[in-house]
Amino acid sequence: MKRILVTGATGQIGSALVPALRLLYGSNNVLALGHKKNPPGDIAEDGPYGTLDIQDQPQLEKYLAQYNIDTIYHLAAMLSATAERNPQRAWDVNINGLMRVLEVARKFKCSVFHPSSIGAFGPTTPADQTPQVTIQRPVSMYGVSKVTGELLCDYYHSKFNLDTRGVRFPGLISYEMPPGGGTTDYAVDIFYAAVQNKTFHCFLKPDTHLDMMYMPDAVQAAIQIMEADAAKLKYRNAYNITAMSFTPDMLYQEIKKHLPEFTMAYTVGDIRQSIADSWPNSLDDSSARTDWDWQPKFDIESMTTDMLEKLACKLQEK
Ligand code: SER
Repeated sequence: MKRILVTGATGQIGSALVPALRLLYGSNNVLALGHKKNPPGDIAEDGPYGTLDIQDQPQLEKYLAQYNIDTIYHLAAMLSATAERNPQRAWDVNINGLMRVLEVARKFKCSVFHPSSIGAFGPTTPADQTPQVTIQRPVSMYGVSKVTGELLCDYYHSKFNLDTRGVRFPGLISYEMPPGGGTTDYAVDIFYAAVQNKTFHCFLKPDTHLDMMYMPDAVQAAIQIMEADAAKLKYRNAYNITAMSFTPDMLYQEIKKHLPEFTMAYTVGDIRQSIADSWPNSLDDSSARTDWDWQPKFDIESMTTDMLEKLACKLQEK
């Protein structure tokens, strides 16, 4: 049985991934680490929980030794819009944080999952059906940190034989915990507005195409690649994965099928539009499909139906 540590466990991905890992591997085998002493939700009650500043390597090592960890999901990171507002801190969190994780993983012989992103691409990358191996010259600090992270994972694998694995996540849509500070956040915020009968003010233009994925598929991808046969993994930096590609207008029309009265307006013009414009419209994820049987379950229709239902329940419970 794996002994797993998750950094950034109280964030958007962690809040969904930790319960799934605990279900699969047993609650006591999954140590969740976040920076909040009293995190919202059940994460601190359903299994071991601890606080961590990602720069604190000695503390991280203590956790690894104490819990006999063999697998790390390193999720602690700043998203694109926040990173752009504070690039120095983004480097510190996203890169120096990752370096510390890779170093302790090397010392304790752990496998490491590191999420990269569509943000690892830039305006000179082919925008449609973006290949697995292609030009990566991002123009955002978030993207710079993601490409660097991919290269570090490659380096630690080839130099130290560290078992690094990763995916390039598209925008992630979930109801457990809001993302915060990302360019793709509109695709989550829109559901909150729709369920609460409010007009949604979208910060991206109606025709901005981006790849997206519903959280259950993202969780499945993270677990599946860590379970995959190492011999089949051609890429140790990160695999392209996607589930759907849509624009704000397409998502609006989809939600209106369920809630015909819902209205959306556009308030465009901040940094997030130029970040989104520099990212691909749609990824080619055939390498992931071939190498480790990646296969998403949700498309825009099934995601929208499920998201509206689950979010309405969640907001009613409050
Ligand atoms: N969802 C991220 C962001 O918008 C991209 O991976 O920053």
